Amino acid sequence: MARKEDLDPKRIPPHVAIVMDGNGRWARERGLPRTAGHEQGEKALYDVVDGALEIGLSHLTVYAFSTENWRRPASEVRFLMNFNRRIIHSRRDELHERGVRIRFLGRRSRPLPRSVLREMEEAERMTARNRRLVFTIALSYGGRTEVVDAVRRLLEDHDAGRLKGRVTERSIAARLYDPDLPEPDLLIRTSGEQRTSNFLLWQAAYTELWFTPALWPDFGRAHLFEAIRDYQMRERRFGGV
Ligand code: FPP
Repeated sequence: MARKEDLDPKRIPPHVAIVMDGNGRWARERGLPRTAGHEQGEKALYDVVDGALEIGLSHLTVYAFSTENWRRPASEVRFLMNFNRRIIHSRRDELHERGVRIRFLGRRSRPLPRSVLREMEEAERMTARNRRLVFTIALSYGGRTEVVDAVRRLLEDHDAGRLKGRVTERSIAARLYDPDLPEPDLLIRTSGEQRTSNFLLWQAAYTELWFTPALWPDFGRAHLFEAIRDYQMRERRFGGV
């Protein structure tokens, strides 16, 4: 496992994205309900946020709830929505004081509960002027849905006859949920699964991937630093030579 001192401070990736996976398995291994895994996952997440602040990351984006997660049993969806609402509410003052800007990425309409949306909007409003770290939480997010929504916005913005030449990578990127979100440099996924699962589908085209068998509740800043140390040994060519 790596420490902060093992990293080259001049080559910290500006944007790290994380698929936090394995909460359910962590709980099952201990004979606990899945919800206990999510609760432990909250601690892991805030250790990672602390680590991100410690090394001066400028963007951290995490996948909290996917469009596909709506298909989970109603009781787990209900738990996760209450959980998300509580976390956003209870952590926002502390994050605000530490200069963190909170942003959300995803479809802000049904079935997302209004009460969760209100907490999201309040956290965004409250922290809008912070610059130290942009912490983006993907919630009710799916990469394909995001591209579909961007194309729909493009259709609304132009009349159909003149649209053809206006459908470009740039015009679609400008209509993603957060056009200001830079492309991630490094994407981490826990729990041994080696997939991106519809996370940042458009933005992650040239992102470096890093996988670990660690289950999300066992993850922490030392794993984050380990992933960054590995990233710093790679050469990025973006399709060039
Ligand atoms: C995946 O584990 C994890 C989740 C669905 C939720 C992760 C969310 C958090 C840790 C809190 C983040 C919330 C906010 C608002 C910042 P899984 O249930 O898919 O695990 P499994 O694959 O082992 O079943």
